[in-house]
Amino acid sequence: MGAVEKLELIGERGLCEVVVELGCLNGLGTLLDDLGVERPRSVVSNVTVGPLHGRRAAVAAGCAEAVELPDGEAHKRWSEVERLLRRWLADALHRGQSVMAVGGGVVTDTVGFAAAVYLRGVPWLAVPTTLLAMVDAAIGGKTGVNLDEGKNLVGSFWAPRLVVVDVTTLATLPERELRAGMAEVVKAAWIGDHELLELLPRPLDGYGSASPEAWQELVLRAMRVKAEVVASDEREAGARRALNLGHSLGHALEAATSYERFLHGEAVAWGLEAAARLAARRGLLSVDARDRLGDAVAALGPRPPLADLDADAVLEHLARDKKRDDLGVSWVLPTDDGVVLDQRVEEGELRELFAELQGLD
Ligand SMILES: NC(=O)c1ccc[n+]([C@@H]2O[C@H](COP(=O)([O-])OP(=O)(O)OC[C@H]3O[C@@H](n4cnc5c(N)ncnc54)[C@H](O)[C@@H]3O)[C@@H](O)[C@H]2O)c1
Ligand SMILES: [Zn+2]
Repeated sequence: MGAVEKLELIGERGLCEVVVELGCLNGLGTLLDDLGVERPRSVVSNVTVGPLHGRRAAVAAGCAEAVELPDGEAHKRWSEVERLLRRWLADALHRGQSVMAVGGGVVTDTVGFAAAVYLRGVPWLAVPTTLLAMVDAAIGGKTGVNLDEGKNLVGSFWAPRLVVVDVTTLATLPERELRAGMAEVVKAAWIGDHELLELLPRPLDGYGSASPEAWQELVLRAMRVKAEVVASDEREAGARRALNLGHSLGHALEAATSYERFLHGEAVAWGLEAAARLAARRGLLSVDARDRLGDAVAALGPRPPLADLDADAVLEHLARDKKRDDLGVSWVLPTDDGVVLDQRVEEGELRELFAELQGLD
C-alpha cells in the first residue's frame, strides 16, 4: 500500500476529504472505519466497472453487491436517477445513511445527483475510476444528468463526503480514455502547477508508461489544482472559470459532431492547442511557453482530426456559448504562468485559427 494522501476541501457544505492510496479499494471498509466515515448502505457502479472494481469495492465496504447502471453518457439520464431512488426506497435506505459511486464521471455525476435529491439529500462517497473523474468530475461538488436538450442541464451542487482514489484502477481503463483524461491533467497543470508538466509520461502509452507511484503523484497534484480553484470559488462566479481553459473550442467541437467523434478530453486537447496559439499571437504567451504547452498536448498522442469538419458549424456552436453567458465570445487564455479570463475573440480571428488547426492534421 502506498501512503495515504489527504486533501481537504472546505466548502459551504462542510468538509470533503480526498484519500489517495495505492490499492486501497480492497481495504475500503477499514479505510472508512479509520477515517470515521460511515460505511455506505448502497454501492452503485456500471456494467463495465462493476465486474472490474465495483463489486470488490462493495464487498470491501460491507455491501453484498453493487447496483450496476448501464454504461455510457446516453444513460446519464433522469430515468436512471429515478431507478436508483426507487431502488433505495425499496431497500429502506434512510436519511443519514450514505451511498457510494464507483466509476467514471457518468456514474459519479448520476449517483451524486440521486444522492442530492433522495429524501432531500443523503451523504455520498465517490470512488472515481477514470483519470478524468479522478482529477475533474469527482472534485468540486457538481452533480447532474443530461436532457435531450443538452448536457448537464439538471443538477445540483452536492459534494461527496469523501473521495477515494485508487489509481491502480486505471490499469483497466482503455488507453483512449486515459489519454483523454490526461488532457484535463495538462489543463490543470497549466492553471496551477507547471512542474506537474514535467511528470507527464512521454510518450503516454497506456497505464504502463508510468509507475503506480508516479500516477498517484500526478493525479494528486492535478486534483489539488482543481480543489484549490473550487475552494476559492465554489459557485462558479469567478475564478472557477479558469477551469474552462481549452473548453470553448472543446465544447464546440463536441457539439458540432453530435458528441460522436471526440471524447471530451480529446476535444479539450484541441482546445488547449487553439488557446495556446491564440494567446501567443496576442503576446500573452511567450514562444517558449507556447511550445511547452504545445508539446504537452502533443504528448497525449493521436486524436480525431478536424480537417473534414465544417468551420461554420463549429463557429456557430462557439457563438451559442456566447448567448448563454452574455460575455461575448469569451475565452480563457494561457499566460506564461497561468491563465487570464474573459478574453474576447472575434469571429474572423476564430475562423483563421480554425483553418490553421485544420491544416495540422
Ligand atoms: N461533475 C463535474 O464537475 C464534471 C466534470 C467533468 C466531467 N463530468 C462528467 O463526467 C462524464 C465523463 O466522465 P468519464 O470521462 O469518466 O466517462 P465515463 O464515465 O463514461 O467513463 C468512460 C468509460 O470508461 C469506463 N470505465 C470507467 N472506469 C474504468 C476502469 N477503471 N476500467 C475500465 N473501464 C472503465 C466506463 O464504463 C466508460 O465506458 C461526463 O458526463 C461529464 O459531463 C462532470
Ligand atoms: Zn473538461
